[in-house]
Amino acid sequence: MKTVIPEAFASHFPADHEQTRRSLYQGALYHFPATTQSKAMATALYNEVTTHFAAWGDDPRLAQFALDNDAYYREIGVLRRRFYSEPRYHHMIAALLAEHGFVPKQNRVDPMRLRVVTDGGYQLPQAAPVYYPHRDTWYANPHGQLTWWLALHRTEAAESFEFYPEYFAKPVANNSEIFAYHSWVKRNWDKKIGWQNQKADEPAAYPKLQQTIAPETILPVVAEPGDLIVFAGAHLHRTLCHDQGRTRFSIDFRTVHEADHHAGTGAPNVDDRSRGSTYADHLRLDNLQEHTR
Ligand SMILES: [Fe+2]
Repeated sequence: MKTVIPEAFASHFPADHEQTRRSLYQGALYHFPATTQSKAMATALYNEVTTHFAAWGDDPRLAQFALDNDAYYREIGVLRRRFYSEPRYHHMIAALLAEHGFVPKQNRVDPMRLRVVTDGGYQLPQAAPVYYPHRDTWYANPHGQLTWWLALHRTEAAESFEFYPEYFAKPVANNSEIFAYHSWVKRNWDKKIGWQNQKADEPAAYPKLQQTIAPETILPVVAEPGDLIVFAGAHLHRTLCHDQGRTRFSIDFRTVHEADHHAGTGAPNVDDRSRGSTYADHLRLDNLQEHTR
């Protein structure tokens, strides 16, 4: 039976920053309504998506219907590489962290990824891993890693992603042992940014849930532009397959608090057996390059 409890998201971090991190490691989920700053950031990012696809119409959420699949994902790849790599986006991350009481230089960051969930995209065999229920930790991410998800446009539940909070502390059958970070990135750095740059990827290389689940509680994300969701990557969650007649765009990035990481503090590991760690490739925020544009 599907129970939806939107109020399960808290909308304020505790006043004490240590307590904030502790609560996240214990499974707290936060949904911050858009602020002036987060809305400006979402608007700037979405404007870039709109500008990039302007040759194919005014609404980037419909561009998927104006290009063939290969051409579309080629364009998406250009945007994804830009958002991930360019210093101006690293500065945006630092500003958003600071607004929420995180000291940027105390954290390492896995930079912004543009998420593109197309209408009917789940029918592409090579896209299957996008929709696997998973924990981010199954991909060799630190157990103290936090995910920050920013809505670029109004996002309905059907085109969004959802949490299964009762499994935060409960193991599920999975094959995360197949994931070894070193061999994952050594052949192709683009893999690190994730699927959607890769035409010929192998879905079998991605860890997946190996049981059916019947969650008592399902928490879908419904968001307005500039709304921010913050959660431990150890949560079991899933991007939803959709046929909404338009593409869902969003941004997310991940942070790891350095001192917590070195102290071994983070979410409990209930079932992750992935090997290696992404941590060494996380960006330091205390030495950001100047804006390049
Ligand atoms: Fe995830």
